[in-house]
Amino acid sequence: MSDDLLAEIVSAIPIPALMVDQNERIIAANADGRTLVGQNIVGRHFATILRQPQVIEAMEQCLRSKGPSKTRHLSNDGAQDTTFEVECRYVNAVGGAVLATFYDVTHIEQASQMRRDFVANVSHELRTPLTALMGFIETLRGPARNDVAAQDRFLMIMTEEANRMNRLVGDLLSLNRVESEERVRPKEQLELTGLLESTLNSLRPLAEDAGVELMLNAPQDPMSLIGDSDQLRQVFTNLIENGIKYGGSGGSVEVNVISSERDTAMRGPAVRVQIIDKGPGIETVHLPRLTERFYRADSHRSRQLGGTGLGLAIVKHIINRHRGRLRVESNLGKGATFTVILPR
Ligand SMILES: Nc1ncnc2c1ncn2[C@@H]1O[C@H](COP(=O)(O)OP(=O)(O)OP(=O)(O)O)[C@@H](O)[C@H]1O
Ligand SMILES: [Mg+2]
Repeated sequence: MSDDLLAEIVSAIPIPALMVDQNERIIAANADGRTLVGQNIVGRHFATILRQPQVIEAMEQCLRSKGPSKTRHLSNDGAQDTTFEVECRYVNAVGGAVLATFYDVTHIEQASQMRRDFVANVSHELRTPLTALMGFIETLRGPARNDVAAQDRFLMIMTEEANRMNRLVGDLLSLNRVESEERVRPKEQLELTGLLESTLNSLRPLAEDAGVELMLNAPQDPMSLIGDSDQLRQVFTNLIENGIKYGGSGGSVEVNVISSERDTAMRGPAVRVQIIDKGPGIETVHLPRLTERFYRADSHRSRQLGGTGLGLAIVKHIINRHRGRLRVESNLGKGATFTVILPR
C-alpha cells in the first residue's frame, strides 16, 4: 500500500486518528488528529508526540501483541479539560502498524461529574437534618426519657427537621418533573393578573408574620397569555417568598406587571413581572450563580429560614420552558429586583 493511499484512508476517518509503524514512527495522521496532538508529526517518533505514559504504553502493547488495546488521552483545548478514549488496533499492512483513533468523551465525563456533584450535594443536604433527628432520638431514649417538657421541645424541633427533609425531597421531585418536560411547550390559556392576585393572597399570612406589605400594580385589562398556570404560580410563589424571607427587612414586596407590544429582550409582544424588595440585596458576585442548584447567597440565613436552595433552579427551568427570561438586579443595601419576562 502506498503512503499516499494510507494517508487518504486515515484522513477519511471522521474522528482524530493516526498510524504508527513497526519503527514506532507516525506514518499518517488526519487533520483532527493533528489538531489534537500537534502539526508536522508525520515521520516523528510517536513517544515524543503522545507524551502521556498510558497512551505510549497502549501503543507499544498493541505493536507487541498485535492485538487491540485501549486507554485515555487527557488534554485541554484552551477552554476546558478534554478526555478522549483511545482505541489502538493492529493493522496487517505496511509491515505491521497501529491505527489509533481518539473518541471524544469530554461531555460524558462532564455529565458524570455533574451527577457526582449533585449526589454529593443532595446527600449533604439530607444528612444535616437526619443527623439532628438521630441525635434527638438518642436523647429521647436516654437523658430525656422522663422529662416531659424536654420531650415536647425536642419533638417540635424534630418535626421541623423532618419538614425540611420533606421539602427537600418535594423540591427535588419538582425539579425533576420540570426538567423532564422543559421541551414540551405549555398550551393553557391563562390570565396573569388573577394568577398573581391569588398567589399574593396565599402568601399574605407569611408576609404578615414578617411584617411585610405586599403590593400589586397591574393594568386594569385582563392579561391573557399561553402558559402553565401551576408552574407559573410556583415561579411567582418562590420569587415573592424570597422577597419576604430575604428582603423582608425593607418592609415591602412590590409586584409590577408591565405589558409591551415590542419588548427589547423578547423582540416581540411580552409581559414583564417585576418582584421588588427593599431588603439587603445580593452581592454582585452571587448574581450569575443564583439559579444553580443548592446555591445560596447567604447560606447560613437561607438554611435557618428553611430554604433548600432549589427554588431559583426550578424557576429558571420553568421560565425556559415558557421561552421567557429571568433578570436579577440588585444593589447591596438597596434591595433586589427579579424580573420575569414572558412572551405573549
Ligand atoms: N430577594 C432576595 N434578596 C436577597 N437574597 C435573595 C433574594 N432572593 C434569593 N436570594 C438568595 O438566593 C438564594 C437562592 O434562592 P432560592 O429560592 O433558589 O433558594 P431558597 O429560597 O434558599 O430555597 P427554596 O426556595 O427552595 O425554599 C437564597 O438562598 C438567598 O440567599
Ligand atoms: Mg426560595
